[in-house]
Amino acid sequence: MSEITHPDKQTLVSADAETSLSRFSTQRFSIAPMLDWTDRHCRHFHRLMSREALLYTEMVTTGAIIHGKGDYLAFGEQEHPVALQLGGSNPQDLATCAKLAEQRGYDEINLNVGCPSDRVQNGMFGACLMAQATLVADCIKAMRDVVSIPVTVKTRIGIDDQDSYEFLCDFVHQVSTRGECDTFIIHARKAWLSGLSPKENREIPPLDYPRVYQLKRDFPQLTMAINGGIKTLEEAKLHLQHMDGVMVGREAYQNPSMLLDVDSQLFGAQANPLTGPDVIRALYPYIEAELAKGTYLGHITRHILGLFQGIPGARQWRRHLSENAHKPGAGVDVVEQALMMVTRPQQTSE
Ligand SMILES: Cc1cc2nc3c(=O)[nH]c(=O)nc-3n(C[C@H](O)[C@H](O)[C@H](O)COP(=O)(O)O)c2cc1C
Repeated sequence: MSEITHPDKQTLVSADAETSLSRFSTQRFSIAPMLDWTDRHCRHFHRLMSREALLYTEMVTTGAIIHGKGDYLAFGEQEHPVALQLGGSNPQDLATCAKLAEQRGYDEINLNVGCPSDRVQNGMFGACLMAQATLVADCIKAMRDVVSIPVTVKTRIGIDDQDSYEFLCDFVHQVSTRGECDTFIIHARKAWLSGLSPKENREIPPLDYPRVYQLKRDFPQLTMAINGGIKTLEEAKLHLQHMDGVMVGREAYQNPSMLLDVDSQLFGAQANPLTGPDVIRALYPYIEAELAKGTYLGHITRHILGLFQGIPGARQWRRHLSENAHKPGAGVDVVEQALMMVTRPQQTSE
C-alpha cells in the first residue's frame, strides 16, 4: 500500500484512506458539536486518531460572529474535514456568517435545531425552531444561496407535545423542499423545552432509533445521520445498515480511544498505527506551539483525560494532569510525567 502525504496534513495517510473519502458519505462518522468540549484543541486531538471522522465545532451564535470581539471562527488546517455549527434564526445573519465561514475554509455549515437550553430559546434558536419549519427552511435557503459548501441541519425527533411522526416528517419535508436541505442529522430523542435541563434532555427523553430509520426510509433521497446514545463502533455499524451516517458525542469525548479504530472499521481505510501514548506524543508539537501563543496547558489537557479509560494507571494519569496542568509554567513535561503513569503503571493502580 503506498503512503502519501496529504497536502493539508502533517500526518501520513494511505492512498486507500484517500479514496475511501469518495466511497462513503462524509457524514458516515462524525463527532458531535459539544459546547465547551469540541473546541479547536479537542478537534486537533481527535484528528490525530481519525483521519476520516467529520468534526463539528461547538455551536457558535450568529451574534457572537457578527458582533463579538473574539475570532469565533478560528480552526486549524489539520482539522479538515470540519463543520461549523451555527446557532441563529435570522436568515440574513446566518447567510453572513455562512459566507464568512466558507471564506475561512470550513467544509460544511450546520444549523442547530436541537439545543433546548433556556438561553438558546430566548435567542429564538436551537430546538424551539422545530416548531417553525418555514423559518428553518428560509434560514437554510439563505445560507445555501451564498455558499457552495453543504448546509446541514441537526435536529431532534420532536419537541414537547409536538412529537408525532407526522410532525417530524412535515419538518423534514419543508426544510428539504423549500429550504433545499439535503442532509439531516437526527438526535433520536425529543426535547422538552421547559422543565428539563440540557443535560436531562440528553438523558431522559427515550431514544427512538426505529423512528429515525423510518424517516430515512421515507426520505431515501436525503442524506441522514443518526445521533444519540451510540457507545461503540459495533453499534455504529448496526446503525449504518439503516442510515448514511452516525454521529457520536459523549462517548467520543469521554472515551476517545474508540476513535483509533474508526478509519479501519467504518471507512475500510488503513488502521491508525498509533497507540494511545503515541497519540499523546504526537500532540506535543501542537501543545508547544499553543503554549508559545499563551494558551494554558490545562485548556488542552482537559480534553485528553479520558484517553486511557480502563487501562492500569488511568486514574493517576488523570490526577497528575488535573493537579498540575493549571500551574503557571506547566508544559509538555507535565504530560510526559503523566504518561509514565500509564506506560509504567504502579501495581496499585486501578
Ligand atoms: C457538553 C455537551 C455540549 C453540547 N453542545 C451542543 C451544541 O453546541 N450543539 C448541538 O447541536 N448539540 C450539542 N450537544 C448535544 C450533542 O451534540 C449530541 O446531540 C448529544 O450529546 C447526544 O449524542 P451522544 O449520546 O452521542 O452524546 C452537546 C452535548 C454535550 C454533552
